[in-house]
Amino acid sequence: MARIAYVNGRYLPLPAAAIAVEDRGLQFADSVYEVVAIADGRLIDEEPHLDRLDRSLAEIRLDAPLARPALRRVMREVVRRNRIAGGMLYLQITRGRARRDPVFPAQARPTVIMTARRLKPQAPQALAAGIAVQCVPDPRWRRRDIKTVALLPNVLVRNSARAEGFADAWLVDDDGLVTEGTFSNAWIVTRAGEIVTRPRSHDILWGITRRTMLLLAAELGLTLIERPFTVAEAKAAAEAFITGATSYVTPVTRIDDGVLGTGTIGPVTRRLAERYSAYMAART
Ligand code: PDD
Repeated sequence: MARIAYVNGRYLPLPAAAIAVEDRGLQFADSVYEVVAIADGRLIDEEPHLDRLDRSLAEIRLDAPLARPALRRVMREVVRRNRIAGGMLYLQITRGRARRDPVFPAQARPTVIMTARRLKPQAPQALAAGIAVQCVPDPRWRRRDIKTVALLPNVLVRNSARAEGFADAWLVDDDGLVTEGTFSNAWIVTRAGEIVTRPRSHDILWGITRRTMLLLAAELGLTLIERPFTVAEAKAAAEAFITGATSYVTPVTRIDDGVLGTGTIGPVTRRLAERYSAYMAART
């Protein structure tokens, strides 16, 4: 079955779906996006994702081209037409098509694109093993809280980490503090059992999985601290993990050349991963 994409009011087979050459999303990354997890055909945390989309749109001074109920209807239709049980929905809104000029066009109609695809569920062995991350300087601009498609720094860093045998990178600011993963938020569990993640600011994306994880961890009665942490602290931590709409809760078992704990998923991370997957299942 061909995948179906939504582009500006039309549902098309993916190979036939296209946007204009002078779309500002293509030429300036003048565009914001969302990635929403799908479990059992349902969109996980749909409303918080749409709230974040509204915030990103406001930050780039772009009016929402579709009201929320209409957007919700299209999102569901894209999931339905692609027959996705487990996977992700991708939604992008650009400032539209206009002659290439940095100044906002007076007339352009925003481009709305949606696609969906299946993702394999997290394999138990992979979850147990966790991933290795490499710490590298964060090369991005200073407004990482806006979910724009200007992802070249993230892409380059992910690929250089891969070339050096790591699954991903953790980005580090000028003060030696971890900001986040290339496409995820970063967390550690200290030896005292505190769960630590960087607070919301312009330095990181305000992850929706991060938000849900904070709520779930509080419900479990775990100690949460939102503060920045250093690379040295991360390497000395009992456990570490990342969260994201496509990584869910994924343990980090190696940071640079330092192995954390036993080199496999730790008890706190396991508890959080199980709680998050129960949360996803309950939403379906
Ligand atoms: N990215 N930080 C960055 C830089 C991200 O790109 C993402 C997600 C996150 C986690 O946010 P959330 O929990 O809302 O997915 C944090 C998505 C998955 C992507 O671009 O594919």
